[in-house]
Amino acid sequence: MKRPYSYIAGTGHAVPAKVVTNDDIAAMGVETNDAWIQERTGIRQRHIAEPGESLSSLCAKASLQAMARAGVQPGEIDTIIVGTASPDHLLPSQAVEVQTALGCSRAAAFDVASACSGWLYGAIVGDSMIASGAADTVLVIGAEKLSAIVDWTDRNTCILFADGAGATVLRRARGGQKGIMSTFMRSDGALAELLWRPAGGAAEPFTPETHGTKRQFIHMAGREVFKHAVRSMAEATDRALDMARITAADVDLLIPHQANVRIIEATAKHAGISMDKVFVNVDRFGNTSAASIPIALNDAVEQGVLKEGMTVLFAAFGAGFTWGSLVVRY
Ligand SMILES: CC(C)(COP(=O)(O)OP(=O)(O)OC[C@H]1O[C@@H](n2cnc3c(N)ncnc32)[C@H](O)[C@@H]1OP(=O)(O)O)[C@@H](O)C(=O)NCCC(=O)NCCS
Repeated sequence: MKRPYSYIAGTGHAVPAKVVTNDDIAAMGVETNDAWIQERTGIRQRHIAEPGESLSSLCAKASLQAMARAGVQPGEIDTIIVGTASPDHLLPSQAVEVQTALGCSRAAAFDVASACSGWLYGAIVGDSMIASGAADTVLVIGAEKLSAIVDWTDRNTCILFADGAGATVLRRARGGQKGIMSTFMRSDGALAELLWRPAGGAAEPFTPETHGTKRQFIHMAGREVFKHAVRSMAEATDRALDMARITAADVDLLIPHQANVRIIEATAKHAGISMDKVFVNVDRFGNTSAASIPIALNDAVEQGVLKEGMTVLFAAFGAGFTWGSLVVRY
């Protein structure tokens, strides 16, 4: 069987209405300022959920948009995959909540826990399921409510992370060149503690004592993560291009994980792709982890930057560490 096995039939995204600027974070008493955040990260503002706003509702909104664009009814979805590190509940999965919200009664639904690579890993799983014949239509979502798991007094992390959901419908490719042309994924669990939540899982269950330690929140060694992100994103872009048997000159648009504009610039430089061919929206959305690529993808579609027939390179990096890439003829 020859690629492409699947193509992106529809995209959508949803973010909370509430916008939090860098100045707003400084006004909360965090020792930081707009100039520092913009210079080191490129972030100007991000969307943050209200306490009662569920991840499920963001997922459903993004998915309905993607399904409408793909012309797909809830009953046609065979599989729902949600990449997330901040599900509404630890048991059962986020994906089954989304299934119920959408009424996709025929679907199998499960989560992928690969942090910022979550949507990309999910898209590779979805593509593989379509290739194997296990599914024809897969809803792949990346979604986060990171505001719920961030320590809002920790300036190393609270300035970066944000909330949102992005959704894509993958459908079986039936001839032609449109679709996923190559995939690459890797992990390195030896480096897990550079970006993690120490408490709250079965190894260190949440207790009243946990509260004071703040070990239930995201802990990050920023500089170390930065170095590994640059190195891994570089490997990811190289490998996906090689496997698709194309070069950087063939890429019309790079849609990287939106963690930090300096990581994005280093990735583009390594790949030999000029910044005018790189989609950046981290300035408006911050780092929405698993949601960042599908939000950027839909933003690029809605802005008319991504047009049919374009060759798109996606590259992700996240906690784990996990990293990966895709080449897609859109
Ligand atoms: C977090 C990050 C923005 C910090 O930028 P950096 O250039 O590495 O900055 P450093 O951590 O070296 O800190 C530089 C100085 O700024 C200070 N600082 C840190 N956070 C600050 C903040 N929010 N506001 C103001 N000052 C801050 C530090 O205390 C340090 O001060 P010092 O020089 O007096 O010690 C950067 O390391 C990064 O983006 N890392 C990757 C994070 C990431 O993308 N994670 C998700 C991966 S998917």
